[in-house]
Amino acid sequence: MRKPIIAGNWKMYKTVERAISLVSELAGLVSDVRDVEIVVCPPFTALDAVIDVTAGTNIAVGAQNMHWETEGAFTGEVSPMMLKQMGCSYVILGHSERRQYFGETDENINRKIKSAFRYQLIPIVCVGELLEQRENGVTEQVVRTQIEAGLKGLETSEIPKLVVAYEPVWAIGTGKTASNEDAQQVISFIRKVVSEMYGQELADQIRILYGGSVKPDNITGLMQEKDIDGALVGGASLEAETFAKIIRFK
Ligand code: 13P
Repeated sequence: MRKPIIAGNWKMYKTVERAISLVSELAGLVSDVRDVEIVVCPPFTALDAVIDVTAGTNIAVGAQNMHWETEGAFTGEVSPMMLKQMGCSYVILGHSERRQYFGETDENINRKIKSAFRYQLIPIVCVGELLEQRENGVTEQVVRTQIEAGLKGLETSEIPKLVVAYEPVWAIGTGKTASNEDAQQVISFIRKVVSEMYGQELADQIRILYGGSVKPDNITGLMQEKDIDGALVGGASLEAETFAKIIRFK
């Protein structure tokens, strides 16, 4: 059985003060939840405070990006060792906003995934097609390339811990969600590509999330699909009550 994950990607929102108030309220609202892994991913500046507030709760903390090296002359970057040491357990890698605005490539994302595992951080690897690619019927081709290049050369012992998020770029922040069937179709295709690379048994263990305009009123349908193991939530994770409703999708 794959345990569902509901993860909030706060993107470039929330000062330290607001982050503390959001996560404190959330912790109170979901303290009895046991059957869902809850993750929040604040901006770097609020990680320390959020890790503090969530100590001893059922909420885990992740970063939104990192460099692949342990340390070095890389101005403005943060390393996996630093994230691990401060108490992060997850890291989002290859988000479409990083690919689109900061030139991240599958090769760099692959380096980051390997490095995350080296520091016992669980990577949430994002893939997904642009609107134009969906309209041209090349969604599977695009996602296959991202998965094959991104997940190349991992240790088989690492695969069960891996989390993938399928986020169609046209559904992010637009209010347009993929239909449950479309999301299921691409997510089962992702599992198939992983099975071609690492075998069915390992592919059946990885959690694959859907992301893109997830809200309290569409999460239940998405979670009923057999290959969808959770959600990566942007906008709707910025308000405690709304995010708590998504966590309680059942
Ligand atoms: P929205 O939920 O705001 O569409 O964002 C999705 C996302 O990019 C999560 O990583």
